[in-house]
Amino acid sequence: MIMNYTKVIELVKEAKKFIDGQSTANFQMKGDADFVTIVDTNISNFLKEELHQLYPEIGFFSEEEDGQLVEDCWILDPIDGTTNLVYGYNMSSISLAHYVHGEGVVFGVVYNPFTDEIFSAQKGKGAYLNFEKPLKVSDRTYERSIIEFGSGSTHKENAEENFKIALSIFKDCVDIRRICSTALVLCFIADGRIDGYFEKIIKPWDIAAGSLFIEEAGGKMTDYQGNPIDFSNKKTTIIVSNGVVHDFLVKKINEVVG
Ligand code: IPD
Ligand code: CA
Repeated sequence: MIMNYTKVIELVKEAKKFIDGQSTANFQMKGDADFVTIVDTNISNFLKEELHQLYPEIGFFSEEEDGQLVEDCWILDPIDGTTNLVYGYNMSSISLAHYVHGEGVVFGVVYNPFTDEIFSAQKGKGAYLNFEKPLKVSDRTYERSIIEFGSGSTHKENAEENFKIALSIFKDCVDIRRICSTALVLCFIADGRIDGYFEKIIKPWDIAAGSLFIEEAGGKMTDYQGNPIDFSNKKTTIIVSNGVVHDFLVKKINEVVG
């Protein structure tokens, strides 16, 4: 099948229309049949329909649907960084990947509608910011690194462990960040802006597109045990890095978790 990923990226950009002009005053937290859910659902439905028209044989696996990973499918997070969207923090993204069993993620796009930054990649062809700047991870060691960590706000039961690891890392690195859009965090590591990231519970749609950028940009991504990520697992642990700080993160995490 010949894929027109340029057209797919255009559709992702077009989905911005569901966010534009919406007042943050109208936003409520997810779970209340609320406005954010409507934005998420609108984007998910729009992309599902448009992608189905283009490629009816490709399946669809989205945060907004109770689906499963299939052999050949799109993996979509219609809005990653939901809380940021609610608070007008302007650090959210639409993340779409094309996954093929046996090959992994073969295409990914992450679009930040607030900055108009588009991160995209095709497997084996490099990853790019706005189609022209090649993405490349940093070569910083842990002493010079900035590390992001996720601590899902709906999983407060893990907060103690997460913040204990973060404190231990913070003492040895330059600083810690909490951008809180994992899809964008992976873009930022791929672009050398920050150097590493960990989270105890992450979903496939948060990381599918970004995983390809990390691979193409020379970075590394594993679970807490150092194993490859399984995209059919809806609750995996994750460590992402520039490669240089990976062992440092594995060690720090397992000193606490271990
Ligand atoms: C969340 C964000 C956040 C991460 C959470 C995710 P959502 O996705 O990526 O950075 O820490 O685990 O659930 O809910 O904003 O789509
Ligand atoms: Ca998400």
